[in-house]
Amino acid sequence: MNDKITQQAKQRYGIVGNYEGLNRCIDIAIQVAPTELSVLIYGESGVGKEVLPRLIHDNSARKHNKYFAINCGSLPEGTIDSELFGHKKGSFTGALDDREGYFSVANNGTLFLDEVGELPLATQARLLRVLETGEYIRVGESEVRKTNVRIVAATNVNMQKAIREGKFREDLYYRLNTIPINMPSLRERGRDIELLFKKFAYDISEKYRIEPVRLTDEARELLLRYKWPGNIRQLRNLVEQISVISKEREITPEILMTYGVTDDSQGETGLVLHGVNREQHAPTSHSYEKERDMIFQLLSSIGKEVKDLKEFVHSNIGTMQSMLAENFRMYENDASDMGIMDTPMQYSRQTTIQPPRPYVVNEQRYQQQSHPPYESHNIQDVDVETIEETPLSNRELMKKNIIDSLKRNNGNRKKTAHELDISERTLYRKIKDYGLEI
Ligand SMILES: Nc1ncnc2c1ncn2[C@@H]1O[C@H](COP(=O)(O)OP(=O)(O)O)[C@@H](O)[C@H]1O
Ligand SMILES: [Mg+2]
Repeated sequence: MNDKITQQAKQRYGIVGNYEGLNRCIDIAIQVAPTELSVLIYGESGVGKEVLPRLIHDNSARKHNKYFAINCGSLPEGTIDSELFGHKKGSFTGALDDREGYFSVANNGTLFLDEVGELPLATQARLLRVLETGEYIRVGESEVRKTNVRIVAATNVNMQKAIREGKFREDLYYRLNTIPINMPSLRERGRDIELLFKKFAYDISEKYRIEPVRLTDEARELLLRYKWPGNIRQLRNLVEQISVISKEREITPEILMTYGVTDDSQGETGLVLHGVNREQHAPTSHSYEKERDMIFQLLSSIGKEVKDLKEFVHSNIGTMQSMLAENFRMYENDASDMGIMDTPMQYSRQTTIQPPRPYVVNEQRYQQQSHPPYESHNIQDVDVETIEETPLSNRELMKKNIIDSLKRNNGNRKKTAHELDISERTLYRKIKDYGLEI
């Protein structure tokens, strides 16, 4: 593949990085674009899958026709067939008019089916038919209609496992998987991590007219060792948080660690180590005393945090509603994204309500920083009782939140889902899961 074409594509779509595996994905997408072949993009959540279907569409003969991106995981199960294939007026309660589905409006164009592994089995059967024959039937009709749509799909689930578990049709999988593209995780991309950090730091500095943050050599090395479970989305959110919250512009490993970045290199204890590099903590210098101290500090800080959280919930229940709604949204996404905000957090340094705090092991770090991002806690103050007196678990909080919201909305699930900022499908699942069905 002509390297120049790949570089041009990167520029056009704002794709940053030179990792060979990433270049290969872009090359395949460019090569396959002018064909009619189905493409299935694999990759963990946050690796940047969504840009490829657009690139494929724009470089195909369909580029002047419609392109739609549909997240199969967020469409409620009850309406997904109607969304995709359309319905006839009166075919179900609420079908007040005839409706065209995506397969009709995207005729001669491209449909990107994101999270395709989430499709219900009945919809998979319809999808297979339309892919094999170009034929489909609207919900509530018997008339066979024709369409010509190119499908590009993406998934972050293990499709082979989904097939083994009977959740995904094997025949559909082979039909979608004509051309597989495997997007690399961020941890594999090495020096691209730094390039992306710089890009996001620059973007946010432009947006808020602040000086861009930069990394010390040690901080750069730490980012290379970190595992990045939420991939590029997580990196972007991290840079945004640090850029806005940190008063320092030169970012050290210590600062990164207060934002949840851990030293994930092999041979470590797995706990966050404060201000030390890998060599200094080779297994030979392993100190159990130190480890015990750290575990004690960890337990103490958890106890204090639980106590704080409890007080916070009691005194700020209203404000918590919106934060919990945000949490719900994160739960809906890949679990690997948990703990990281998906959208830029917009708050000022003066705000009194602090943003969700990254999970931190060593509380002392705050005290050593000249500008603690959050209130610092004195470890000696921790009341051990509070460790046992655990408040509502996340699950219970969610359940309570759903019950409250349902009450506020007189049982209207659509409004409840809207208020909690989750899909109706997720709400239905949770209602069932929590046994709240009447
Ligand atoms: N190579 C890249 N360069 C710049 N930004 C990227 C890159 N890859 C992903 N992003 C950004 O990271 C975020 C997550 O990408 P997305 O395509 O939504 O991930 P996925 O669909 O795989 O979960 C988006 O904001 C996207 O713009
Ligand atoms: Mg996505």
